[in-house]
This record gives sequence, structure tokens and C-alpha cells, in this order.
Amino acid sequence: MAAPSTDLPLEYSREELLDSGSYDEPLIAGGVRCHGGFEADGSYRSPRTIHRAPAVQAWQERLRREDCDLIQIDPALMPPQYPNVEQAKLLLLEGVREPVVRRLTIISIVEGFGAIIRDVGVPDLASHVVEPITGTSLDHLEQGLFEAHARDEAGYRDEGGHKQMWEAARDLALENPKIPGDVLMQMMGQGPGRRRERKRGFPQIDERLERMLATMAQVLAVEVFAMGAFDWGERLLSDSEVSAEPEAAGRMVSFIRADESPHVEYLRTGLSEVAARTLRTVDGGSIPGREVVRGMLHSTLRGLTRERREEQRNDIRGALIEAMQVHANPASLLERFDELETKWTPPEHTGFEPEDPEPQA
Ligand SMILES: [Fe+2]
Ligand SMILES: [Fe+2]
Repeated sequence: MAAPSTDLPLEYSREELLDSGSYDEPLIAGGVRCHGGFEADGSYRSPRTIHRAPAVQAWQERLRREDCDLIQIDPALMPPQYPNVEQAKLLLLEGVREPVVRRLTIISIVEGFGAIIRDVGVPDLASHVVEPITGTSLDHLEQGLFEAHARDEAGYRDEGGHKQMWEAARDLALENPKIPGDVLMQMMGQGPGRRRERKRGFPQIDERLERMLATMAQVLAVEVFAMGAFDWGERLLSDSEVSAEPEAAGRMVSFIRADESPHVEYLRTGLSEVAARTLRTVDGGSIPGREVVRGMLHSTLRGLTRERREEQRNDIRGALIEAMQVHANPASLLERFDELETKWTPPEHTGFEPEDPEPQA
């Protein structure tokens, strides 16, 4: 691999990657001091990006310079939201508020779960990767990248993160709605109990390494797909027909969206760096990183676009029909609701199907 020759440094300390710098004005959401803040010109700056953003850019430039692909998940793979914006709007206008409050609350809780990324075990990568990893994002995962991601999602110390920001957006737009008491319990009932036993896809590599890479592939796909949910939230909550504070609530979601982009970027950079390298197998051999990364993305994306999408829709639908019973004519409401549903079939290909082995030169 060619020696780095970029203007931007490739090495950063943990402190730098976690540094937010100073703001002209803090971001307050629902009375909670949150991360991020405003510059003198009023523009919003995401937390922990003064070094992290140029760092990721530098690592991506290095990949480009070395003629390595930067992984890109096709946005066409992103399933539509259920209920979609029009369906959610119909529910709100018809006084059926519970499903929308529930959905927004689930989003805030899932954001908070994002903190588990800091618990992903990072094995001694230098011993598992044949080529050097100095000057890569891979070498900085434990050096602040996972930690910054965790703090962004769940907040840190007395500073709120995305969890609190979503709650604030919801409460602004829907005027402090009553939160269903069973949201968390329902989520628990639907999640882990039904989780499919994960089979090891690449038992020939170190188990901790496999787990870390599989988690990164999974989180990358979830982050990319979350953009659909965030776009949904921003459009719905900034719609003055259904939102009490269209401007403030929509802005809050737009700040969250801005904060998400570093997550997608460092994860796809790290996975691309692995794909450009060779991994050692436990039996003393090796396997192209490209094969491992593509295999993981392929199975994650197939799962998310097929089974998971159907499961989620069915889970939501049951509760939705129940919630409609507060309406004077639930049957006709359901009919109108169903007419608005976005028709969708998952694309045939994930873009990460196994490749034919390259002919030996
Ligand atoms: Fe987030
Ligand atoms: Fe995120």
C-alpha cells in the first residue's frame, strides 16, 4: 500500500476524537442540556466532530488514493416507513395519537440502546490483519470512535444525546403526549425472545474479530436505514397541520440527522479498510477481508429487508388496529389508512453477493 500523503493527519488521540470544542450557545432540548450547539452565525455543529469529521475524511481520502472501494449501501434497499408520513398524519388528524407517540418513543429508546457500541470488544487488530493498520479508522475504533458514537446516541454524563432530543421533538410537536406505559415491555417481547440464533458465518477467523465486524456491518445497515425513519420524523413533526411546534420540532430532528452522518461514515470506512486487507485465519491461513465484509453485509441486508421488515410491520399493525378503536368508525379509518400504504418489494440484490474468485494472475 502506498505511503500516506494527505494534508490531513491520519493519527488522532482519543481526546481529540471525543472533543466537541466550544460553542457560542448550547443546545437545550425539553429543558435538558444536550450535546452539540450553535456557532456564532446560528448554525448547528454536531458534537465531537472538530477532529472526528476531518479524521474520517482523511481515512476515506487514503482509501481513494490507494484505489480501494468505499462501501456504499444502496438506499433503494431501505424499506419504507410503516406507517408512512401520510398514514401517520391521517391517524393524528383523526385523533388516533397513540401509534405515533409510540413510534416516536420507540425511536428515542432505540437511540439510547446505541450506547452498547462502546461494549463491542475490539480484539488486537494488528495481529489479525496481515497488512499494517496504522493511520486507519480501524486503528481508532477503540481510540474514541466507538465511544463518540455511544455518547452521541445516549448522551454522556449530564448532557443529553439523541434519546433526549427525540423525546423533546415528540413533546414539542405533540404537546407532551401521554406516553404508553408498555412501550419498553412490548419492545422486549418482540426483540430478543424471537431473535434467531446467530450462526457463525466465518468460523475460520478469530471469534471476537468476527463478532466485531458483524456488529459493525449490522450497525452500519441500521444507521443507513434509520435515515428513512428520521426523514419520516422530520417531515411529520414539521408539518403544521399535525405539529404544534413545526419549526422547533423539525429543527430538533434535523440536528439529530446531522449528528448521524459521522456514524455512517466511520463505519463504512472501517469496513472498507478491512475489505482492502487480508485477515488471518485461526488455522494459520488467510482470507480476503473483502469476502468477509461482503458476506456480512449481504446477510445483514437480506435479513433487514426481508424477514425483519415483515415482522416489524406485523407487530406494528396489530397494535395499530387496536389503537384505532378509539375512533368513531375504526373500520373505515383502517380502510383509508391501508390505501395510503407504500407498496414495496425488496430489491432482488443487496449488492454484496458473493463474487467469483478472481483468476490467479
Ligand atoms: Fe442517533
Ligand atoms: Fe447513529
